Amino acid sequence: MRNVELKARDPDPARSLERSLALGAEDQGEIRQRDTYFAGARGRIKLREQDPGEDELIQYSRENSTDARTSSYRRVPTGEGDALRAALDDAYGTLVTVTKRRRLLLWEGVRIHLDEVEGLGSYLEFEAVAEGSGATDPDLSAEQEKVERLRSELGIEDKDLVATSYSDLLLGAPDQLMRAADEVMRTAYVPYSHFPVGAALRAPDGSIHVGSNVENASYPQGQCAETSAIGALIAAGHTLIAEVAVTAERMDICPPCGGCRQRLAEFASADTLVHLGRPDGPRETTTVGELLPLAFELDPPV
Ligand code: THU
Repeated sequence: MRNVELKARDPDPARSLERSLALGAEDQGEIRQRDTYFAGARGRIKLREQDPGEDELIQYSRENSTDARTSSYRRVPTGEGDALRAALDDAYGTLVTVTKRRRLLLWEGVRIHLDEVEGLGSYLEFEAVAEGSGATDPDLSAEQEKVERLRSELGIEDKDLVATSYSDLLLGAPDQLMRAADEVMRTAYVPYSHFPVGAALRAPDGSIHVGSNVENASYPQGQCAETSAIGALIAAGHTLIAEVAVTAERMDICPPCGGCRQRLAEFASADTLVHLGRPDGPRETTTVGELLPLAFELDPPV
């Protein structure tokens, strides 16, 4: 099988849905999908578990490019998703898991995916499957044209095009978060400790919110980087933390102080990942639950 694909961040999924329907695309409804990528493969191999739909093993190779690109793949249906995942995980190990809610639409043979990807946010994809796809080198110009037409009708801007897969985006996510923490660390106001710290928090929609430590002549009144970042996340209208990175120039691994562990726990869950370290140096990944066992929790009074 060969097809032409395009992927982009979607700043306005409601608008994309509206415009697709206005073009006459058929709404096929929502699918929940979990893709498990296994290590050690030549190219890529993933198990897709979906509801509604049949589980399938998908093997493929693809060039990373923002141009509408071609890819070849194989799909092997399986009724044994759970067992296959366990077997492949034991044999090869799991690289990354991508969980998403996909709204599927069909327009002139092109699949339109409006995706909400856990930890990354909103994306859209077009997939035009080539007719007569058995040919070794089929002419894909008709598919290219359809994808271009959809791209202009839905108003997809160059800056939003994405060259990599969701799995690569997720694998790169801790680095991205750590770089954001390192960048904001440079703004730290630390005339007393000379110990700059930077924190970056990812919200469930994929957006990143950052903060640095801010000190005060009355030492205990100083504020940690994590606390500043929580303020930025809340000010942006979020109330959930999906992932955390903390970095300090003068300490390889800078664990959040006790107070900040409690503050992070207020908005995170016990399995929320916390990356500690330096962008190009040592790295340790823990969780909010490991940092704050037996956490004190209350339901906010109504
Ligand atoms: N600090 C943070 O900002 N985050 C941490 O995780 C540990 C400590 C700050 C507080 C103070 O401004 C400086 O580092 C030295 O304690």
